[in-house]
Amino acid sequence: MITPCIAANWKMYKTTAQTAEFISEFLPSVKSVTDVEIIIAPPFTSLAKAGEMLKGSNVKLSAQDLYFEKEGAYTGEISLNMLIDVGCSYVIVGHSERRQYFNESDEFCNKKVKAAMAAGLSVMYCIGETRPERNSGKTFDIIKREIEGGLKDVAPEKLVIAYEPIWAIGTGVTATPQQAQEAHVYVREQLKALYGDKANEIRIQYGGSVKPENIAELMSQPDVNGALVGGASLKADSFAKIVKFR
Ligand code: PGA
Repeated sequence: MITPCIAANWKMYKTTAQTAEFISEFLPSVKSVTDVEIIIAPPFTSLAKAGEMLKGSNVKLSAQDLYFEKEGAYTGEISLNMLIDVGCSYVIVGHSERRQYFNESDEFCNKKVKAAMAAGLSVMYCIGETRPERNSGKTFDIIKREIEGGLKDVAPEKLVIAYEPIWAIGTGVTATPQQAQEAHVYVREQLKALYGDKANEIRIQYGGSVKPENIAELMSQPDVNGALVGGASLKADSFAKIVKFR
């Protein structure tokens, strides 16, 4: 049985004080949850504070991005050692906002995924199509391209895939459970081509307007093994409800 993993992606929200306030409220409310891996991805500036507060708890810490060089003259960038230093065990790679606004390619994401795993971190690798791509029947082509490009020479052990249709991110329009399941089955097939039977153990999260009201139905789909949650993860009670979907 796969343990589902549900992650909060806070994007560019929350100061350290707001992070501390969230975590103080959130931790007691999910203390009893043992059947879901819970992850929070605050912005870089809140990682150290969050890392201190989450230590010894059942909530793991993720970064939203990384740079793949060990150290050096890369103004503005954050290395894996720095992330590990503040307590991260996960990192998000290839979020559509990074691909869209910062021109990150599959090749560039591949470097990040490989570096993160070499450093011992688990990766939530994001993939997904735009509305025009879906409307023109290209959803599977995009998924295939992003998986093949981003996961070249990557081992499956510390990998989580986040399927996030871009048209569903922050729009309030969630993919139907059937649309999510159909895409996840295709993702799983692609992972099988790379990893054989090990693909059955890889968690595939759905992301895109997940909220307390729709999480249970999404999670009832056989190939939906978790969620990556943006907007609805910013309030402790809302994210706690999502984590306790059962
Ligand atoms: P959303 O974002 O839940 O606000 O749609 C999801 C994401 O971008 O990870």
